[in-house]
Amino acid sequence: MGVKLGILGLGTVGTGTVQLLQDQKRRHPLLQEIEIYRVGVRSLDKPRDVELPIGIVTTDLEAIVNDPEIDIIVEVMGGLEPARSLILTAIKNGKHVVTANKAAISRFGAEIFTAANQAGVYVMLEASVGGGIPVIQPLKQSLSVNRIHAITGIVNGTTNYILTRMQTEGSDFNDVLADAQSLGYAESDPTADVDGLDAADKIAILASLGFGGRINLADVYCEGIRQVSKTDITYAAKLGFVIKLLAIAKSQTDDTSELSVRVHPTLVPQTHPLASINGVYNAILVEGEPVGQVMFFGPGAGAGATASAVCSDILNLVATLKTNTTNANPILACSHQHYCQIAPIDQLITRFYARFLTKDQPGVIGKLGTIFGKYGVSLESVVQTGFQSELAEIVVVTHDVREGNFRQALAEIQSLDAIDSIPSILRVL
Ligand code: HSE
Repeated sequence: MGVKLGILGLGTVGTGTVQLLQDQKRRHPLLQEIEIYRVGVRSLDKPRDVELPIGIVTTDLEAIVNDPEIDIIVEVMGGLEPARSLILTAIKNGKHVVTANKAAISRFGAEIFTAANQAGVYVMLEASVGGGIPVIQPLKQSLSVNRIHAITGIVNGTTNYILTRMQTEGSDFNDVLADAQSLGYAESDPTADVDGLDAADKIAILASLGFGGRINLADVYCEGIRQVSKTDITYAAKLGFVIKLLAIAKSQTDDTSELSVRVHPTLVPQTHPLASINGVYNAILVEGEPVGQVMFFGPGAGAGATASAVCSDILNLVATLKTNTTNANPILACSHQHYCQIAPIDQLITRFYARFLTKDQPGVIGKLGTIFGKYGVSLESVVQTGFQSELAEIVVVTHDVREGNFRQALAEIQSLDAIDSIPSILRVL
């Protein structure tokens, strides 16, 4: 007997998934056990890049999740609702779920996994982070015996594409964004990508798996890339860094379980493995004990890449169904109940880069140094190379400092007569 799929959504990922399932030559033989039984779409009139037998495609998504014939629901429609309700109904009806929906999982994961555990079904989510990069299953299985110290990722292709072009062409954010939109690399409403929200969803999911607890998405600190300027990219290069939008989940210290989970543009040393990840590619660096550093790299989006992740989850479930091990595999399930404790951002210990525009007069650098010293902020470097109009441009990089202390120092510096503005404040990896 074949395993019957109900696929919700026939957009980019749904189409890629159907195409992969229909083209089985030289792929895993277990794919032959899979039957695309129903496909749910919003509109029957839209032209599609796949051919499906008459009667399989329907706009009645509720009927799919309630169909007793269907074993696995593949939710690739995206968005919060009706995706959440459809997933919950499928679970209630005893169906396993494969989803690519990072937004729904990062917000409703607690509700969805509680329901799945009660119903004895699995919710698989490899495609929700990193597109075609296998990172969820390695975190759940291959790396599961490690004590994870940090997960640091470039998990948003759109922003990495924009930052890479700003870096290589010396262009401004707005110009590259407009071009990326016309080329289809950025959405017409780019908010979720450029403001870091998509990356926040993804790091919440990775942190939950890596650190074995739930993550309250509202606790994830999130800054996007709109304020990154070509001036900062140039200074960063002079100082030996590239600027990347990083999603970071890290133990605050070795002896507490408190985490720092955050998304922000970051100065990354040019020698760091993540510094050379360019364009739309994603990469996730996992650091654990005893394994050390493991980096996953690949295409973070796209029909084929994401379909690879979706179909590997489907295959995993088919294997589980075929061997009758349903609900007996705690490594496939997501059973943690407690929430991870996440430290507020002002407790973060990090290095900072800050750029000041000041009057060009004696004693300004001295005053900056004095105020930083008062708040325990030690400076690694201070450079004054340029002018903008009549104003001197001073760039400082600090040693590790508590973010709260650094912000207090900045507030006092801001009130100095000689300070015109502080156009950039960025964290340094
Ligand atoms: N908008 C996402 C990105 C697509 O740019 O990476 C995959 O989640």
